[in-house]
Amino acid sequence: MSTHHFVLIIHLLAATVWVGGHLLLAICYLPTALRKKDPHIILSFEKKFEVLGMSSLALLIITGIWMAYDFGITIETWFAFKSGFEKVISIKLILLFCTFFCAICAQFYVIPNLNEKNINRIALIIISVTSIGVAMLVLGSTLRYGGI
Ligand code: HEM
Repeated sequence: MSTHHFVLIIHLLAATVWVGGHLLLAICYLPTALRKKDPHIILSFEKKFEVLGMSSLALLIITGIWMAYDFGITIETWFAFKSGFEKVISIKLILLFCTFFCAICAQFYVIPNLNEKNINRIALIIISVTSIGVAMLVLGSTLRYGGI
């Protein structure tokens, strides 16, 4: 097994945890929390998932950038939107910043004041982060065909 292959397996395992965890939250826990108007259902899931989720996101970034460098997509070429492969990497990086933005909004503005009346705000963030994760996965799957 080459180093690239090993790094790709770590990337895929981390993607499984990150996207799988958010799909579980969005499909199973969020509807119950909204129906019962109980933010604790979401907060207790986030507490349990935090370390695993954050570690998997960190691994996705490290392994993703590592593999991009293997393909010659170095920092100087990012955001040029020239080749199909580089386009996908650049879009993935933009989506990553969108994920950071959602996380900052959640941690500093939404979660500290979360209650049964404004539970829709955290719902919007969960649906956004989950959709972005799925989009990153779909984009990743195009890379073996040369990107978009
Ligand atoms: C939520 C975040 C991410 C998810 C869910 C994700 C998911 C995936 C998936 C499913 C693949 C497909 C692998 C295959 O078809 O064999 C992939 C490949 C890839 N991803 Fe990501 N990815 C994420 C973040 C990133 C980031 C931040 C970068 C780098 C900037 C990146 C760079 C790559 C590269 C270079 C490949 C191609 C690997 C190869 O085919 O050898 N990914 N990703």
